[in-house]
Amino acid sequence: MSSLQGKRILLGVTGSIAAYKAAEWVRSLVKEEAMVTVVMTRSAERFVAPLTFSALSGNPVYRDMFADESERVMAHINLSREADVILVAPATAQTIARLSMGLADDLLATVILAARVPVVFCPAMNSNMWAHPATQENIKRLQHFGYHLVHPDSGTLACGDVGDGRLPEWDVARETLLALFEPDDLIGKKVLITAGPTREPLDPVRFLSNRSSGKMGFALARTARRRGAEVTLITGPVSLPDPPCMEVIRVTTAEDMEKMVMSRASAVQVIVKSAAVADFKPAACQVHKIKKTSQGLHLALEKNTDILKKLGENRKHGQILVGFAAESRDHAGEGLRKLQEKNLDLIVVNDILGTQTGFDVETNQVTLIDRKGSAVLPLLTKEDTANRIWDSVVSLLHKRGGDAG
Ligand code: PMT
Repeated sequence: MSSLQGKRILLGVTGSIAAYKAAEWVRSLVKEEAMVTVVMTRSAERFVAPLTFSALSGNPVYRDMFADESERVMAHINLSREADVILVAPATAQTIARLSMGLADDLLATVILAARVPVVFCPAMNSNMWAHPATQENIKRLQHFGYHLVHPDSGTLACGDVGDGRLPEWDVARETLLALFEPDDLIGKKVLITAGPTREPLDPVRFLSNRSSGKMGFALARTARRRGAEVTLITGPVSLPDPPCMEVIRVTTAEDMEKMVMSRASAVQVIVKSAAVADFKPAACQVHKIKKTSQGLHLALEKNTDILKKLGENRKHGQILVGFAAESRDHAGEGLRKLQEKNLDLIVVNDILGTQTGFDVETNQVTLIDRKGSAVLPLLTKEDTANRIWDSVVSLLHKRGGDAG
């Protein structure tokens, strides 16, 4: 289930060429079963017809403060009361200026002024207009009022100029919306998460690896960010795109991962090692492709460093260390053994034999084991599983008094 399911989103569309992209956003929201109502300014209608938004949202589009009986009496009050969040996208320099002055000169402005729900602005405009001190002052005023801002993207704009001013990507705006519905209990915390498999090269074309898709680790990274953490994600080779608003470091081998993890470990308060690191690597990587022979091939393997164990031996005072365990039997016993052996605070044990759990699926069913006991979680999406892991981490941080600065 998406966390946007059932959420009432009021989308304010203003007069920018990027208005057509907002139509795509409506499609994405509806796909996640959010309930979308669109309010358009007069100039937005010059770029996209209201019919487009009503067809995509399945709801009437509101445009006029003084509409006839076919629209609603006191539309501005009702619309602001019926939304869980207001998203203004694209937000033009003109709309940003009007709202920064508290002007209530059209339906969208009055809805926003009357609202008691979070408002998110996604600006889109020419880069000089964005950089103008007046716009920057107006943006500061909006933020001072408690409104949220998704910074515009950089790139080539519709006018041909290059710079800041493009409507942000949907994924970035979506993460901002999702964060509004999550607790902000990881604010001020730096977390390091590892994800995906590692690849251990055998020759120029072959490697040893495993079936990890990175989905569990990426879900941990996104959910931590939504809860306010500053996230560093170190991932082995996966086909997932970089999650927004965090540092993403891509590595290949266990040795690369070890170097990156150890270089960042002392700066963070929480480490979660969900990566499926190869335990062994070929003793030598051949420079040339290994030729087929009539006999079989005997591979000499050597052990990789156990990164998690090394972290457990070297961790700083107060740091929370979370490991994963991929097990096919004696889950509780193996989990407890790894918790103690690697000096962890929490271990997340996956059952890798289930068809809906573990490697390369959308869901997971895990057991959380800490030093006080264990909890078996139901089958959940990987994002919901990640949130349950963060709940446990937050409670461990509280018990520790958050002194891992
Ligand atoms: O990526 P997905 O497709 O979403 O699948 C998720 C997952 C099944 C890969 C993930 O949830 C998971 O179980 N990750 C750990 C897999 C694993 O390597 O388990 P393990 O029991 O072999 O290792 C135990 C712990 O030691 C893990 O935290 C692992 O990161 C760590 N380890 C292992 C070997 C090594 N050389 N260095 C390590 O740090």
